[in-house]
Order: sequence, then C-alpha cells, then structure tokens
Amino acid sequence: MFRLSNNLVGILNFITFLLSVPILGAGIWLSHRASTDCEKFLEKPLIALGVFLMVVSLAGLIGACCRVSWLLWVYLLVMFLLIVLLFCFTIFAFVVTNKGAGEVVSGRGYKEYRLGDYSNWLQKRVNNTKNWNRIKSCLYDSKVCQSLTEKVDETVEQFYKEQLSSIQSGCCKPSDVCGFTYVSPTNWTSTNGATYTNSDCSLWSNDPSVLCYNCQACKAGVLDNLKRDWKKVAVINIIFLVFLIIVYSIGCCAFRNNREDNAQPRWKPYP
Ligand SMILES: *[C@@H]1O[C@H](CO)[C@@H](O)[C@H](O)[C@H]1NC(C)=O
Repeated sequence: MFRLSNNLVGILNFITFLLSVPILGAGIWLSHRASTDCEKFLEKPLIALGVFLMVVSLAGLIGACCRVSWLLWVYLLVMFLLIVLLFCFTIFAFVVTNKGAGEVVSGRGYKEYRLGDYSNWLQKRVNNTKNWNRIKSCLYDSKVCQSLTEKVDETVEQFYKEQLSSIQSGCCKPSDVCGFTYVSPTNWTSTNGATYTNSDCSLWSNDPSVLCYNCQACKAGVLDNLKRDWKKVAVINIIFLVFLIIVYSIGCCAFRNNREDNAQPRWKPYP
C-alpha cells in the first residue's frame, strides 16, 4: 500500500542522514588538527551534533520505511523533546539578551561597554575563568585587535573617530575613564603613581597578547556582540522550529500508518 507520509519521513531523514556525515567529518577532522583551545572547544559539540543527527535520522529512516513501529516511536519522542527544548531555549535566550547596550562617549566614533549593564546570568557565564579562557582563545584566533595593532602611525584624532566593534572597543584599548596618554591604538602610557577606581585600568598592558583581554569591558563587548548575533540566530531558530513541527506531524501520520498496517493481517491463513 502506498503511504505518502512514510515516504516523506523516509526522504527527509535520508537528507538529514547525508547532512550528518559532513558535520561528523568536520568534528573528527578538527579533533585531529585542533591546535588552539578555541578549536578544541568546537570539536566536541560538532561531533555530538553529528552523532545525534545520524542516530535520529537512521531511526526515522528505518522506522518509516521498514515499518518498525518502536523505532518510529523513539524517533517521534526525540523530535518532540527537541521541539520543546528549542522552544524553551529561544525564549530563554530572548530574555537573557534583552538587557544591556553600549554607552555613547562624546566625541568618539565608538561606544564603551560596561559588564554591569548586561543580564546577571550572562555576567556569571563570562566571569567564570574556564569559560572566559575559552572565549579569550577564540578572540586571539579571530585576531580582533590585529588591525588596530598595525595602525602604529594613526593620530589620536583619527583614532577617536574610528568606528570600533564592541569587542574591539572593550578588548583592544583601555577604557576612556583611565585617562591614559595615547601613543598608538594599542600602546598607551599611564600616569605614574595614579590610582584607579576602575579595575580595568590596572589590567591594561601594551603587550599585544595581553591588551585588555582580561578587562570587564572586554567581557561586556563580547556580550554585546552576542546580543546582536542572537537576533539573527533567533530568526533561524524559529524557521527551524516550524520545519521540525511539520516533520513531526508527518512523522505522526507515518506512525499511525505503521500501527494500522501491523494491525491488519497481510495475508489470510484461511481463505
Ligand atoms: C609603545 O610606545 C613606546 C614609545 O614610543 C615604545 O617605547 C614601546 O616599545 C611601545 N610598546 C609596544 C608594545 O609597542
């Protein structure tokens, strides 16, 4: 008997299965050549996602095409949990990234960022040393401050007009309130013997591998960037959620078909 929903679930899961192969491959490839903490940090989620997609799509594929009801049931349960989880995650991330914004400083092309302006939950995440070291290693990898370090001849007037990203403003230069003297964008001299109310001022170093990477302003810059990225991720999430709900509904039809087919005898022993 021709069953549209079974075939659709089969095809969709076959595509998902094909998709999981390069994801898993990328994760395994990364685990062999990862040299920085940032890459090592990415390899585990990639492998986990690849394995998860592979197992779930195989369950759906075999369950729908070979009419294995219990496999299809497991598949639907996982899909249901995934929908609930994704829904909760989307709402939670909206709440958490709602608070906080950069502060305009007069006469500057860039804004300044304060960690205290962002949600407590996010503050705790970046204040955790282990988390912060991982994020910091990704910042080093992406060379956020390199373009500024290279501008050794830039005058202070030119620098103040720069439109720095939130991460560059927080991590690559000392805070405005420190009142350091400008030499180049990543080279500043502090006044001898000055005491600072802002702890970021004493954390600043002209060493290109230190700069303000340990500053609260840098953490705030990262959170501001996350906040802006989140809006894009949320749109993708909602599209993905609609897609999952459609697949789930088709999967439910296939499950019902399986049960109906299994309940009807395929051949009659006694005609
Ligand atoms: C910063 O500038 C001073 C004065 O020009 C120079 O002596 C020093 O080497 C520079 N530091 C770095 C890290 O470039």
